[in-house]
Amino acid sequence: MAYRLPPCETERRRLVLCTRPLPLKPGSRCSNKSTLFTSVRGSRDLVSFSFTHTPEETCPARAMPSEEPNGCSMELKEGIDNSTFQDEESGDVEQGCAPEETAPQEDRDSGFKQIKPYAGMPKEVLLLYSSQPCYRLPREILFWLTIMLTLALIALTITVIALSPRCLSWWQSSTVYQIYPRSFMDSDNDGVGDLRGIKEKLDHFEYLNIKAVWISPFYKSPMKDFGYDVEDFREIDPLFGTMQDFEDLLAAMHDRGLKLIMDYIPNHTSDRHRWFQLSRNRTQNYEDYYIWANCSRTKPPNNWVSIFGNSSWTYDEDRGQCFLHQFLKEQPDLNFRNPRVIKEMNDVLHFWLEKGVDGFRMDAVKHMLEAPHLRNEPQVDPEQPPDTVDTEFELYHDYTTSQPGLHDIIRGWRVELDKYSREPGRYRFMVTESYDYEEIDKTMMYYGTSFVRESDFPFNFYLLYLPKYLSGQGAFDLVNLWMSNMPEGKWPNWVVGNHDKPRISSSAGAEFVRAINMMLLTLPGTPTTYYGEEIGMENVNVTEIQDPFGKFDPNSTRDPQRTPMQWSAAENAGFSTNKTWLPVHPDYKTVNVEAQKNESESVLQQYRALSLLREAELALQRGWMCYVWSDKDVFAFVRELDGLSRAFLVVLNFGRDAVTDLSWVAGLPDELTVHMSTRYAARGERRRKARLETARGEGLLLEYSTQRRLNSNPAFKCFVSEKACYLSELDILYKC
Ligand code: NOJ
Ligand code: MG
Repeated sequence: MAYRLPPCETERRRLVLCTRPLPLKPGSRCSNKSTLFTSVRGSRDLVSFSFTHTPEETCPARAMPSEEPNGCSMELKEGIDNSTFQDEESGDVEQGCAPEETAPQEDRDSGFKQIKPYAGMPKEVLLLYSSQPCYRLPREILFWLTIMLTLALIALTITVIALSPRCLSWWQSSTVYQIYPRSFMDSDNDGVGDLRGIKEKLDHFEYLNIKAVWISPFYKSPMKDFGYDVEDFREIDPLFGTMQDFEDLLAAMHDRGLKLIMDYIPNHTSDRHRWFQLSRNRTQNYEDYYIWANCSRTKPPNNWVSIFGNSSWTYDEDRGQCFLHQFLKEQPDLNFRNPRVIKEMNDVLHFWLEKGVDGFRMDAVKHMLEAPHLRNEPQVDPEQPPDTVDTEFELYHDYTTSQPGLHDIIRGWRVELDKYSREPGRYRFMVTESYDYEEIDKTMMYYGTSFVRESDFPFNFYLLYLPKYLSGQGAFDLVNLWMSNMPEGKWPNWVVGNHDKPRISSSAGAEFVRAINMMLLTLPGTPTTYYGEEIGMENVNVTEIQDPFGKFDPNSTRDPQRTPMQWSAAENAGFSTNKTWLPVHPDYKTVNVEAQKNESESVLQQYRALSLLREAELALQRGWMCYVWSDKDVFAFVRELDGLSRAFLVVLNFGRDAVTDLSWVAGLPDELTVHMSTRYAARGERRRKARLETARGEGLLLEYSTQRRLNSNPAFKCFVSEKACYLSELDILYKC
């Protein structure tokens, strides 16, 4: 309630208190108090008045609850208990604005007492003291201190964020381990591996310090191409188990912090897929789900050939047209120029992403689009009679691979994956599969650009050629091929084996397995390990060919590298008690996980030690790689991180016994310490840089301490992807 005083001068007076019942008596003189407290209607409510006036001013005939113009305003606040106040004022509620005749000035003043703040004092009263210097000064100091501290905290937070390097994601910090599910572990003893079998063996990944597991296809499939011919993208093949088995496996993996990467097969389906059945009988909306072209029973539309040999066209009696298949005739190619197909396949991605799958390996992506004009592809040898052209390598694939529009599709998948990557720690990973051979620039395109991302990395298959170019120089060339073609800032990766290529241990020779594993785990970027490579499994000579590619060309059979995992010396290497779908390697009695766990310095033990070291050492995880040497025998490189004195020199011998002189490398100390040798040297031994001896097939990992960096010396060629520097004083990494 606001009361108005009569017109008065605006002289502000000192702060005092008085009490008085309302209403004010007409004609009484206002006291020179700027705030009055009183009881309202005899109650114990506190009323405060704020006003300015002269000491001798006459009170109005009545106190008016009005907005009288030119009046001094008094503000009345109700509802506050005044009892304490009144007690302190000796209960005199008649003091204050007394009538002029009956209350001399001194009496009036004596009725108003100055009081001190006390605990529990009403806020309004407390506020009266707030302008006094003894309260105001500390208050202001505190206020500015708080502001300054807040600003300093904000500045510190921004600095920390700006200086923090990016953390490595799970697909960067872990090795990717590939499981071929038919061959990993058979839980139901039907001779074929399955999902429950994988779940039984999860300890193996913990032992190896591996966090990312890629499982080759386990979709429902007639198994013409062992799962790469998908009949239903939303079902598990009974051979591998049930959807419940899959969900259990995924949950068990997530419980252990393991990530599951699935195969995604966009280029083709099985001819048993519902879409193909609907397409071949021209059901509305499905007519163009696949690539159909007019042809006769005997003459295909053009000279295109399948990767598995012979024409890539097959005449379909039902539809009276030919359909395209870049692989088996039981694997018709989907038509990715049809938006319905794109949508269907995106839905498949969502289906598995919803289930919680952590990433996908995109199969055969370069084959996804074909030129709509269907012209013949040029022959590699123009003189070759056209009707004898029946293999992939006899044509230039100008119209069947890497067609314009392909990368738009892959970017589209990235968008879908990103939608599921927003929660912390739930990044969904994508790796693409494309063999581009000498056209490495085509492979690099799957990285996308710095603005539009595609896959996290395309598989780097170039080290698969190491056996062909086996030498120090060969290893350098293959490593450098990737590093010097990879777009800046992208993340490298290395593959030395998979289900499509002979095991490198067989093609390079068992004596090189350890050095190859050392190279794989010490190069910068993500290593991929095909099951069994951690124990040095070798190809098996399979006489009864199962692989359809092998049936076309026995030299191309992929059976030898797909044989059962060798777990122990038990029957069938502990994989199954039944006849296994492919034979077990006869060396399983000694080459198996159990035996190698018990044998120090085994291939498995060394693999594990390297895997643990890779995680523990920042220089190996995300440091620079600088080449220091390559010749016909030896390839050597350094891993170092700015600010970190501990660094590593890796010396790999892919030739004959050798002595390497690195005395000219000023950044290396004269003596280095052996961290690991795949051969004879013991940990802790000292080696002189002027005389680094390595035996054929030896991998030597030396550690040293230095403040001199190779990467700052232009004489050395160095690479780094996720650059960071180490600050030893604070034990932190920062952006540099
Ligand atoms: C690539 C796979 O790795 C291979 O095993 C398969 O046969 C083809 N794609 C066809 O899907
Ligand atoms: Mg089974």
